Amino acid sequence: MKLTLSNAPLNDIRVDLLAIPVSPSDLTGSGSFHQLDLATNGALHQAAKLEDFNGKSGEILRVHVAGIGAQQVLLVGMGDDHLHPRNARILAARAAQAAFKCSSAAIALPSNDEDSVRAAAEGVITGAYRYTAYLTGERVPKRNLEQVFILTPNEVQKGTQALERGQIIGEAITLVRDLVNAPPNEMTPRAMAKCAEEWARRLGLEFREWDREGLQKLGMNLFLAVNRGSAEEPRLVHLHYRPQGSPSARVAFVGKGLTFDSGGLCIKPANSMADMKCDMAGAAVTIGIVVAAARLGLPVEVHGLFGATENMTGPAAYRPGDIYKSYEGKTVEIVNTDAEGRLVLADVLAYAVSQLAPDYLIDHATLTGACMVALGPWTAGLFANDDELAQRYLQAASIEGESFWRMPLDNELREMLRSDVADIKHVGERYGGAITAALFLREFVGKTKWLHLDIAGPAFLERAHGISPKGGTGFGVATAIRFLENLSQAA
Ligand code: BES
Ligand code: ZN
Ligand code: ZN
Repeated sequence: MKLTLSNAPLNDIRVDLLAIPVSPSDLTGSGSFHQLDLATNGALHQAAKLEDFNGKSGEILRVHVAGIGAQQVLLVGMGDDHLHPRNARILAARAAQAAFKCSSAAIALPSNDEDSVRAAAEGVITGAYRYTAYLTGERVPKRNLEQVFILTPNEVQKGTQALERGQIIGEAITLVRDLVNAPPNEMTPRAMAKCAEEWARRLGLEFREWDREGLQKLGMNLFLAVNRGSAEEPRLVHLHYRPQGSPSARVAFVGKGLTFDSGGLCIKPANSMADMKCDMAGAAVTIGIVVAAARLGLPVEVHGLFGATENMTGPAAYRPGDIYKSYEGKTVEIVNTDAEGRLVLADVLAYAVSQLAPDYLIDHATLTGACMVALGPWTAGLFANDDELAQRYLQAASIEGESFWRMPLDNELREMLRSDVADIKHVGERYGGAITAALFLREFVGKTKWLHLDIAGPAFLERAHGISPKGGTGFGVATAIRFLENLSQAA
């Protein structure tokens, strides 16, 4: 698929499908809607009326037209704040979805800003995404879309660069989706490490990995405890992107990489286990972030670490009541083997703190069902031990159209983690489950400025929502990259 930036007039562009944003006020005679309506003898107005299209966000209408260069016009409802870059992303993603069978499409952006161009390019790539790796014969969908024009009213400063950047981010998002959607019998810890290694080779990143023996030498006994019931070897992976020149900041990302979470001996009921291939989404996002940061050449040093293992019920499986000594030194009493993610993260976070001493430490994890109970399926929980870091992250998220909500690291709840027999136990009570999970992690990050992002909801969807597809979404990549870019500008 080829993306091209252009200022061609909307009436002339010769494509199979031309997508335009429509706000409720446009229907009374303004914007590209009005312009194209005149050129098509009122066809757009008529269609909108017949189909009860009002320009509200979420509405979409495809109209076959004559009198302009395009064969069809796609009206994409934008609601009232249509100039925000996140609406350029929605417009572009809708266009790419609708144009799957077309050979060419154009997307009419209402403004000339860099961020909108970039968001549109990202939207085209993610909108055209389908997971097809395991389909054969007739089931393989044939995408015809080859040419996509991103149209702006006037020339955009650094437009070409913005286009390329959007593409890179879009591709990182689809990479994450592919990893998350892959079946757990194929996407094993070793396969995840292999994927990271291949990207490292392609992009000239430093790559290190540890197997079971290596983890034993490091003393990552919490991580190893989770792996005990699995026939698959675990992997700790460390990707390292070093920019040219001296970095403006050093950031370490850590991901939960449970390639399958059966719950272990505290086994999950079948319904809750069904989608647990998604439990490595934090690790996948971590790979996506490092890959995108490197391809963009950001002036920030970025580390990506993930702990990959299954949580299974084999004969050596860890048990409730077991006590293990963590990498950091604290002993931990195991309460519920289904709360495995925080154990893996605890050791990897402590490793990042002691070995890398980053300016910022950020973990992504499909950590708790409780976070989904609190925030619903489309919003991630954000926990931070530093207010400024939290604010910066939330601001980056709002530009990118990803939904995070800050949750409290409530000290009151810390007593729920008190153990009679070890330094700490790893699960509190049912109420406040997302918070006590975060409080457990906090024990392992010391004084490092740290963000914990519980992405259990938005990383993987049961059904499509907005422009996010069913299954793996790639949630988290866009915000992380924006955050890193802002860091380098502030410095
Ligand atoms: N991987 C799950 C959390 C999860 C749930 C992710 C739904 C995505 C969708 C995690 O390991 C888990 O099982 N958490 C338990 C913790 C409990 C045992 C304290 C949970 O949330 O129920
Ligand atoms: Zn679990
Ligand atoms: Zn899990």
